[in-house]
Order: sequence, then structure tokens, then C-alpha cells
Amino acid sequence: MARSSNELDLTDVPRSRLATLPTALEPGPALPGGASLWVKRDDLTGLGAGGNKARKLEFLCGDAMAAGARSLVTVGAAQSNHCRMTAAAGAVLGVEVHLVLSGDRPDHVTGNQLLSTMFGAHLHFTGAHHSHWGELEIAREALADQLTAEGLAPYSIPIGGSTAVGAVGYVVAFHEIMAQCSAAGIAPAAIVHTSSSGGTHAGLVAGRALWRAAGHDASAPLPEVLAVGVAKGVNIGMPDVADLARDTLAVLGRADVEVDAADVVLDTRWMGDDYAVPTDAGDAAIDWAARHGGWVLDRTYSGKGLAGLLGNATDGRWTHGQHVVFIHTGGLPAVFAPGGRP
Ligand SMILES: Cc1ncc(COP(=O)(O)O)c(C=O)c1O
Repeated sequence: MARSSNELDLTDVPRSRLATLPTALEPGPALPGGASLWVKRDDLTGLGAGGNKARKLEFLCGDAMAAGARSLVTVGAAQSNHCRMTAAAGAVLGVEVHLVLSGDRPDHVTGNQLLSTMFGAHLHFTGAHHSHWGELEIAREALADQLTAEGLAPYSIPIGGSTAVGAVGYVVAFHEIMAQCSAAGIAPAAIVHTSSSGGTHAGLVAGRALWRAAGHDASAPLPEVLAVGVAKGVNIGMPDVADLARDTLAVLGRADVEVDAADVVLDTRWMGDDYAVPTDAGDAAIDWAARHGGWVLDRTYSGKGLAGLLGNATDGRWTHGQHVVFIHTGGLPAVFAPGGRP
């Protein structure tokens, strides 16, 4: 089929169908300042208890299967949602999964580690601190080399699955959100989400650029994509989200579509002391979500992301008559991991 010059065309992009899509877009309560909240339920993507990584894994695993991979290797913090969902993807596809994790092997696995073990993944504990991503990535590369030598043909996935191939999942999500908003009769002012390894953000920025290039902004204003950074790397510009968005468009054969530095909007005020260190604002947002919509957010990602949304709403970024979409990126299993709230 000929590639259309304007629309999202996935014809030539290998994809493994792993996620339950589209996810729901639910109307929520009024925000401080009066704008209406909508929640995009990417916590309910189905695969291995759900979350944003299912969208990335559809394209990462598609690429892996097309390359003839016989195993998947990835890396993350001890309670990584991405690792848990990769474990589930491997179970669905019938390939071995190896997870390189921070910290030491606990006596009892809980939360995401428990699920990863149930999905049959091999857990490799590095002893590294959970925010020492460089150390973890080196361990992933070493393990991938070892598996290659053993003939296991690994497909090796960096932290968070944030490659250009993985980010295609959030190009799809951007289009899905716009279609759902249109069906609901709204034009969102902003799409807000938690950012940690940058791939979700890059995919949304690429999707928005593609949407703009197709001229859709002539009929309804383009929503701002606002990322709330919850890790040190992404907050200092690693990865470069604009570059990753351009690479993502190139995967789609659309390197002609422009991404400007101004398309990347990141609020770095909500991480607190470090990645995975809870904040009072994050805990307050968790309670707000639980008591306004029965939504379950976690303390590392989605809680801090919603804290950023609520903080911006309180500061008057949006007002009555406007609509703000929060992408609930998941994180439920970590709620049941050790170190819960006092
Ligand atoms: C629940 C949850 N929300 C948000 C994110 C951030 O996504 P990204 O790594 O693509 O920035 C993650 C990443 O691990 C996550 O697990």
C-alpha cells in the first residue's frame, strides 16, 4: 500500500499485538481553576497487569520478532513496571526474558518482581542503586553479550523501552487520544503525563508533529503535550526528547515532519529529591485521584505526574471551559511492594 503523505501509516512497521487498545478516555472532575480533567486509562492496557509500556512493547517486540530474536533482555529499577511488562510480553510471545535489576535479590519477591517471576522471567540483581542507570545499562549490555554467546539471539531493550521504535507506541496513543476527544466533542488544551526515560514523551511529541503536519490544527487547536519529569536524567535533557521524536518519525518513514525544540515542554519541579523518592505533593495527588475517581496511582511515577498537573492547574495554567487529559501510565503493582506509605 502506498504511504500517505499526511496520516499515520503503520503498514511497514513490525508490530506484535500485545495491548488491549484503545484504552478508555474517562471524564473526571473539575480541576483547581475550573478546567475539566479527562483520564486516559493507559494503566489498563491489559498486558501483564497494564501500563504504558505495553504500547512500546508492541513495536519493540515486533522489531525483535522480525529480527528473529529468541530472547528479550531489558533493565530497570528493582520495582520496574517496564521489566514486568517485558516479562509478560515474553510469556505471550514464547521467548525467554532476562531482567537486569537494581538492588539485591530479596528473600521474598513482591510487587513487580513477583509478577515478573510468575511470567517466567529470569531476574538478575546487580546490587546497583536504582538511580544509577549507567551502571544498570552496562550490566544489560554484558548480559546481552553473554546470551549471544550462548546462542539465545537476544533483543536488548534499553531502560524504559525508550528507543525510537518503542516510542512509536505513543505516536499511536496521540492519534487515539485525538480521535477520542473528537468523538467526545472536546478539543483538549493539554495532554499531561509522567516522564522518566523519555520515550512516552518523545512518542507524543512525534504524534503531535505528525498531526500538525497533516493540517488537523486548522480545525481544532493543537493540545500542548506537557511532561512531568520524575527522574534526574530526563530533567537535565537526557535523552534529548526532540531528537528522539525525530528518530521516531524516521522509523515511520516521516523524517520530513518537523519537530521544534518548543514542542518539548517539560516541568521538572515535581521529582523531589530523586527518582523513586516519594514527595508530599505526589502523595497528596495519589489521595486526590483515589478520592475523586477511584484511580490508583503510584509514588514513583503517576502520583508525581498528577501532582504536576494539579500544581499547574492551581497556578492557573488552565481555566473554565478547557479540557486537560492526564495519561494514567500505570504503576499499580508497585503500590503493593515493600516500603509502602506509613
Ligand atoms: C507507571 C509509569 N509511568 C510513567 C513512566 C514513564 O514513561 P517513560 O519511561 O516512557 O518516560 C513509567 C516508566 O517506567 C512507568 O512505569
